Amino acid sequence: MDVLASNQDIIEQSLELAAEVLDDFSGSVYKRYFDLQPDAEDLMSHLDDIVRGKMVAEIVRLIFVENYQKETDYLRFETKTHADSYFVKADMYPDLLTAVVASVKEGAGDIWEASVEQAWQKKQEDLLAALRFHIEAR
Ligand code: HEM
Repeated sequence: MDVLASNQDIIEQSLELAAEVLDDFSGSVYKRYFDLQPDAEDLMSHLDDIVRGKMVAEIVRLIFVENYQKETDYLRFETKTHADSYFVKADMYPDLLTAVVASVKEGAGDIWEASVEQAWQKKQEDLLAALRFHIEAR
């Protein structure tokens, strides 16, 4: 990967490559996620692939966001709905992002190197911090 590429460029390029290479990016994310977090599988067992896919699409949209200040209203709404209506616990979020990163790594293995790993580590931390801020503020 170009040493001058910004972290956000690295994130977007590797995510696009993984989505192209993997037959079923969303399926790969959920398989990994449910291995790490069996309780989440129980919570999501009634959902079809379309709803599951929409949730991954929304997570991908958030990954493309650089500044989570702009997502304050959305993150507040979604974390509240997830907690109050879907019974999602705060500690179910980190493994979901870990599953997303592992799926990107699987699909984008050809370009995976230290700079890509670091960019994803930072992205995961930033998005989790934004989610945690809203979960803890409730
Ligand atoms: C960044 C994190 C997350 C985002 C952006 C997100 C986004 C979404 C969205 C947009 C939907 C609605 C899909 C639709 O009906 O069109 C949804 C539904 C759902 N999400 Fe998430 N989600 C996140 C994390 C989680 C986690 C960690 C869990 C844990 C199990 C979870 C469980 C669910 C469930 C159970 C539903 C379906 C509720 C229902 O309709 O019965 N989500 N999510």
